[in-house]
Amino acid sequence: MSVENRLDTWNDRWNRGATGWQLSDLNFALENHASKLLPKPGRRILVPLCGKTVDLEWFYREGHTVVGIEGVEQAIVEFFTESNLPYITEQTTWAKVYKTEDDRLKIYCCDLFKMDLKSLGKFDAIWDRGSLVAIYEEDRERYAELMRDLLAADFRYLMTITQYTPNELFSGPPRNIPTELVEKLFGDMCKLEVLGGRTKDEEEVAHWNLKSVAELVVLLTPRT
Ligand SMILES: C[S@@+](CC[C@H](N)C(=O)[O-])C[C@H]1O[C@@H](n2cnc3c(N)ncnc32)[C@H](O)[C@@H]1O
Repeated sequence: MSVENRLDTWNDRWNRGATGWQLSDLNFALENHASKLLPKPGRRILVPLCGKTVDLEWFYREGHTVVGIEGVEQAIVEFFTESNLPYITEQTTWAKVYKTEDDRLKIYCCDLFKMDLKSLGKFDAIWDRGSLVAIYEEDRERYAELMRDLLAADFRYLMTITQYTPNELFSGPPRNIPTELVEKLFGDMCKLEVLGGRTKDEEEVAHWNLKSVAELVVLLTPRT
């Protein structure tokens, strides 16, 4: 893998319809903990590596301002088509943007590691599902730096992480993310709280050649 072809495998997966992570309903972590991520109305939320998750539409319909980052254009077009949200496009110097006419939901089509931080501004909240667990191991430090730079002072950062014992047949994505790794990446700036989780059963993870996978919901808040 080189930084230049990071998106090749993802383009290929979208092209083949190999998007097994896609959920038809709101993510269970949001169903249970959305008020912790979005304690006030009218928040500005970032969804890194958003794909075409239905969570984007849910945030928007709840009245928040939503920004997604996604490297595969097909995913973005499918999101707007399937959600029936009318959209317009715009070319900035660093990304093509798909957005609703009221400007309250925008998805930037670009490699996350090439986004322009200054023009994105700060976010009250980050929703990270299928993002930290999806990126390459060598990109993790840089990813954490980018997320940290984008957070407003009184932020809430909710993530789901997968935990399992990798083997020679499967090591992700989703990759194994021990809680200690989240602590290492964010701990100096954030307090970590594990809000809950669930275990995917053997049947659900048999196609990964794993016996079980735990999915944890972790909330990061400012370390005061
Ligand atoms: C595992 S999927 C998760 C999608 C979404 N968060 C969800 O919960 O359904 C990861 C997504 O990130 C996109 N992606 C992977 N690497 C990326 C990068 N470096 N920059 C932008 N998008 C990327 C892929 O195209 C894919 O849609």
